Amino acid sequence: MSNETVQAVRGMNDILPEEAGLWLWFEDVVRDWLHGYGYRNIRMPLVEPTALFKRAIGEVTDIVEKEMYSFEDALNGDHLTLRPEGTASCVRAVLQHNLLYNAPQRLYYSGPMFRHERPQKGRYRQFHQVGVEALGFAGPDMDAEQILMCARLWKKLGLSDVALQLNTLGDADARHRHRAKLIDYLEKHEDVLDAEAKRRLHSNPLRILDSKNPAMQELIDAAPRLMDELDEDALAHFSELQEILKRHGISYEINPRLVRGLDYYNRTVFEWVTTRLGAQGTVCAGGRYDGLVSQIGGKPAPAMGFAMGIERLLVLLQEEGRKPTGQDVDVYVVHQGELAGKLASQVAEQLRDGELRVILHCGGGSFKSQMKRADASGACVSVVIGDDEAQADEVGIKPMRGGDQMRVGLSNMLSKINEFIERE
Ligand code: HAM
Repeated sequence: MSNETVQAVRGMNDILPEEAGLWLWFEDVVRDWLHGYGYRNIRMPLVEPTALFKRAIGEVTDIVEKEMYSFEDALNGDHLTLRPEGTASCVRAVLQHNLLYNAPQRLYYSGPMFRHERPQKGRYRQFHQVGVEALGFAGPDMDAEQILMCARLWKKLGLSDVALQLNTLGDADARHRHRAKLIDYLEKHEDVLDAEAKRRLHSNPLRILDSKNPAMQELIDAAPRLMDELDEDALAHFSELQEILKRHGISYEINPRLVRGLDYYNRTVFEWVTTRLGAQGTVCAGGRYDGLVSQIGGKPAPAMGFAMGIERLLVLLQEEGRKPTGQDVDVYVVHQGELAGKLASQVAEQLRDGELRVILHCGGGSFKSQMKRADASGACVSVVIGDDEAQADEVGIKPMRGGDQMRVGLSNMLSKINEFIERE
């Protein structure tokens, strides 16, 4: 056996306590924000049958073709996959538990997702999303609700430079007509297509429009446009959405090349993008997926959702100078001597009864070394107990941000300490 330390899997990050403070703050803000719109929490397993993602996301997508962590359960041979996204699982759960039976649903989840991508800044193999799904809503009022929600969150977080890109993919008929025309067009120019595009020509030609290959841009710019195939209903849906957004002063850019990497979308799709993260600039993305519920076995129901990448948003927040908060302790209790030790643990519990956050020193050592720990803990106050204090039913209180140590009786301890606590 090697003695080398074991490292985490590439692209899967530890979130250390220093950083976790920012995560906790972010999760609090997000939870309040979601509850402010009536969305309810749902928690799905991290592992699902592989067939679910193949059916929902599409066989000929990057995710299903090459990014899924799929494996065979060694005990029973089941084909399983670590979830690469949450929409498929969420819809599966809604159907399995019949949640759509009586009422539409506004749901959210958050947690890790897994994709075997090439890791780089803002792109990981285990990353975290907050996902929002509204099922049973057909109108553009829901599309608008979700976009307005996002705009409100950016404001709450203090992010100013995320821009909205919007597109509509129309409905299935329009997409079939467009697909046929597109294949026809691309076949006529097959000599310009790169290998990836040639491979996709018949399986997923729409994704060719997403190519960044400079040699194909002219061809892509002149390709048949889906917009020209849209029927009246889809156009009306899209223009109504835009009207609502304008009424609320939300600016956006229509990007006809926004096609998304998952096959379940129809009509509205959108992405919130920043230029500050290089190539991984999409911090939040989603759209309508009216066909998915029936595609995975339910009675047809319209739906709309989005997910944001927590790591990407946190990088932006860190760049804006947002510091972790909320993990400090109020009081550090140091003690020396047997009697003092007994009193110290009582005192710590008593202070916690008073809603203070308390570290009780463990592991002994001199007062001097214990005070060093107290200092490093960030506590506002240390409580100092020697046998002397213990015998008198008193404690020493030392304000850590300057000020002399004082002795107080146990009954005055809590109120005295509270005078020194800096509340956020
Ligand atoms: P998605 O565009 O695949 O959509 O992912 C949503 C967001 O997750 C991205 O915009 C990005 O911020 C983040 N993300 C994706 N992959 C990575 C990665 N490898 N590393 C770091 N962050 C990443 C979905 O997943 C859909 N389920 C969204 C949705 C919900 N549509 C409807 N409802």
